[in-house]
Amino acid sequence: MRCCLARRKPLTGLTGINAREMENASMRLRSFDRGSALREFLHRAPHSRRRFLAGLAGLSALPLLPARGSAQAMPALVEARLVAAPREVQLVPEKYPATGVWAYNGSVPGPVLRARQGERLRVHVENALAEQTTVHWHGIRLPNAMDGVPFITQRPIEPGGGFTYEFTLPDAGTFFYHPHQRSYEQVGRGLSGALIVEERTPPEVDRDVLWVLGDYRLSADASIRGGFGHFMDLSHAGRIGNTVTLNGHMPESFRVRAGERLRLRLINAAPARVFALEFRGHRPWVIALDGQPVEPHEPPGGAVVLGPAMRADLILDMTAAPGSRHAVHDGFYARRPYDLVDLEYSDEAPLRARAGDPPRLPDNPLAEPEVRAAERHEIVFTGGMMGDMRGLPRGAAWAVNGVANGCGEGGSPFEPLLVLRKGRSYVLHLVNDTLWHHPIHLHGHSFRVVSRNGRPTRYREWLDTVMLAPRERAEIAFVADNPGDWMFHCHVLEHQASGMMSCIRVG
Ligand code: C2O
Ligand code: CU
Repeated sequence: MRCCLARRKPLTGLTGINAREMENASMRLRSFDRGSALREFLHRAPHSRRRFLAGLAGLSALPLLPARGSAQAMPALVEARLVAAPREVQLVPEKYPATGVWAYNGSVPGPVLRARQGERLRVHVENALAEQTTVHWHGIRLPNAMDGVPFITQRPIEPGGGFTYEFTLPDAGTFFYHPHQRSYEQVGRGLSGALIVEERTPPEVDRDVLWVLGDYRLSADASIRGGFGHFMDLSHAGRIGNTVTLNGHMPESFRVRAGERLRLRLINAAPARVFALEFRGHRPWVIALDGQPVEPHEPPGGAVVLGPAMRADLILDMTAAPGSRHAVHDGFYARRPYDLVDLEYSDEAPLRARAGDPPRLPDNPLAEPEVRAAERHEIVFTGGMMGDMRGLPRGAAWAVNGVANGCGEGGSPFEPLLVLRKGRSYVLHLVNDTLWHHPIHLHGHSFRVVSRNGRPTRYREWLDTVMLAPRERAEIAFVADNPGDWMFHCHVLEHQASGMMSCIRVG
């Protein structure tokens, strides 16, 4: 079974978290104002504390896909152009109509940007949407001014305007880009794409494969349903869709050959949906999380769990028999399991008898935090349905240490949650005091997850987005080595838009 149009359920059935909770919640919801309250929350009085970078007008014709520069001594320059515009694409199988989306360069997901570690990336973004936008380079440790956060790091790109982002790529790994302006709608309508930074010496595999996972809420005519920013989605699990896509389509099968070794890069580009992927009949190895290498290990519990914005690089050895077929199954929402795609083996003889140990990727140049000497802070996430939403501004459903911030949109000002000293080590104790999952993302840095619920983590993994289960606590550690104002927020985009947003200043 897969998520598809034929299995559409009414809105309240879509989130699939827990039917009883949902029913209770929707009863209570009737007393809430919807829609306009959020708008009001997001567009409070403009402020003028910051200077804005100038937009770029009059772009010359540039190639749609990156082309390697040729400089020898200087880091090579990879240049690309992204045009955000409405477009019709075939998200669902051909027997259904096309879907009107918002796309980069006409495709959903957007074009794959590829460069090598240490190279410079220059991307000319043009906005052909009817509203403002920005592009955020999720997980890239870049200068603050290139981070794509409206009103904090740049003036949003006006309709018809442009902006050129340029930065060096310090880390190899699997990253992605997406708007940071009204992202709960802009991402929900299709805007995001992969940014792959190759290792200087990539590990040996037969194929380097990318699966960008998307999730859309479609009507029976395959159009994207409206109702973005509905308080029901804001205050629950976010806008979970009814149509899961793999690289912008709904393929039945993915062709493989017995004996081959894949590096499979997974990106969860959905606004709210969590995935827990099981590769039936196979034993994948996780070799990187959020772009950062990790000691190769089998996913705990047998499933690769990816909250919104999270990435995993797997080594997948095709150990099953020629001609066989095996489901990639998503069982995250116990009441709504489905098969994402089938691994379909060709009849060819196995490429090799047995693959060796999985490769260990070379570490990226991250500063190691001194956990013992680190300054510590506690950060508590509250709110949500069945949680405490008392005292929050109209349209807000969540808070970080008691404060509900907007996304900086409309210039709504907010003070930093923390001010950190450049070069010092910090441990942040994150406390999820809600009944919902929250993938918490810090811009401009990667951090080690050193404990969960008081117990040391086995791999001390480097992440940029750490998923907190309901009531879970985690300690993250990092060196505050990148100066600027960095967003620190939940990546369920409706949560981000309705208060689970804050800023950490490094200076
Ligand atoms: Cu992927 Cu603040 O974002
Ligand atoms: Cu959240």
